[in-house]
Amino acid sequence: MSKQAEMKFEPFKIKMVESIHVTTRAYRAQALKKAYMNIFFLRAEDVIVDLLTDSGTGAMTDKQWAALMRGDEAYAGSRSFYRLEGTVQKLFGFPYVLPTHQGRGGEHIFMRVLANPGDLIPGNHHFDTTTAHIDQRGAEAANLVVEEAWDPDYISPFKGNIDIERLGKLLKKEHKRIPFVLLTLTCNSVGGQPVSMENIKATRELCDKYGKPLYIDGARFAENAYFIKTREKQYADRPIDKIVKKMMSFFDGGTFSLKKDGTVNIGGMLCFHNEDNYWRAAALATIYEGFPTYGGLAGRDMEALAQGLEDVLDVDYLAYRTGQVKRFGEMMEARGLRVLKPIGGHAVYVDAGRVLPHIPAEEMPGVAFANELYLEGGVRAVEIGTCMAGRDPRTGKNKIAKLEMVRYAVPRRVYTDAHLEWAADSSAAVMKRAKKVHGVRFTFEPPALRHFIARYEML
Ligand code: F0G
Repeated sequence: MSKQAEMKFEPFKIKMVESIHVTTRAYRAQALKKAYMNIFFLRAEDVIVDLLTDSGTGAMTDKQWAALMRGDEAYAGSRSFYRLEGTVQKLFGFPYVLPTHQGRGGEHIFMRVLANPGDLIPGNHHFDTTTAHIDQRGAEAANLVVEEAWDPDYISPFKGNIDIERLGKLLKKEHKRIPFVLLTLTCNSVGGQPVSMENIKATRELCDKYGKPLYIDGARFAENAYFIKTREKQYADRPIDKIVKKMMSFFDGGTFSLKKDGTVNIGGMLCFHNEDNYWRAAALATIYEGFPTYGGLAGRDMEALAQGLEDVLDVDYLAYRTGQVKRFGEMMEARGLRVLKPIGGHAVYVDAGRVLPHIPAEEMPGVAFANELYLEGGVRAVEIGTCMAGRDPRTGKNKIAKLEMVRYAVPRRVYTDAHLEWAADSSAAVMKRAKKVHGVRFTFEPPALRHFIARYEML
């Protein structure tokens, strides 16, 4: 099925199922009130279709479940670590592999090793936990994604690309402050949009010119590789594993949340070519994560992970995965909602600002939309807008998002198209009630990553 851009059916059979608690609007109104009007505080069993994240929420393969039984729980030198290390070395080509409990555990260590106060860290667009760790170091994040990424209607194959011209100018002007460049593949913060091989290569060339390392935030590396295969002509006949290996060959290492394309429920890792960086990271990992051969993971987690990294490279799986997300986006469009296009790899992003134009950015239209969506259909999706953007650490003012989006992330192999139809129908119902939907304000606002644990009241 190598050239097929989309699979019409799931390339797997279902072996185990989990019941869904079907609730009424009145029940959900109570549940949301108890959750301080923040969908993150809902009990998952009160959610009908949970599209909060694709992170750690996927279904594992039978091979992964079998691998779990082979976990070696030794504190040091676990066989399962060596299996994971060997798999990563084989698939990615990075010699030094440091497991971490999840992506941000790795980011914490990574930024402590590589970023210093006053530094400037350019990337296409850093994810919010990455930005938080850059901020924590007293460094500054620079997001240089191509301009067209901010036009949701503009169709172009690689809207996750970094703007090479702007990166070149920044490196020229600020190279003393720039310790490395970080590319996020796919680029979550602009809609799960992929980065082309050509763009990765051009970034590498610029980094070489200025003697800077290039790192990857590779949470969704396999989805990115699939987009390269289907959108970048010269890779159409290349097997996914070869594309992944080539992608990785441009990087000096990376930080990975493995809860996405690692297809496990928990896990992350750091990878390096540079031995010195590895040992500096390993020393910190020993304090914050665990001994370097487990890094906060159980042996069985590392077994499932090693298997997951192999399984995710199945081209039929990736065709199904990206195809399902695309069909979901088309369902939304067919109901009159504006979605970010082209549809990304892991999620559909709906323009909530357009549905709720009467709610100003400061009153967080995306949060208001997500709350109403839950009330309407028990569907959980998350705001990616002014709330998530947080405050400017220098001025203390809200960073007003360019777009007030709501993200519907699709867990891997968990929901059928019928569940997604329900989510699309519920979204259309929010649109119909739009005039009755009000903005929100904080009753509690944490200093960083505020969307996770904020409390709100409806205005
Ligand atoms: N990088 C990217 C691109 C991510 O999408 C995430 C997490 C992380 C790093 C952090 O990894 O969660 O394992 O600590 N994204 C999740 C999401 C939370 O819902 O998009 P983590």
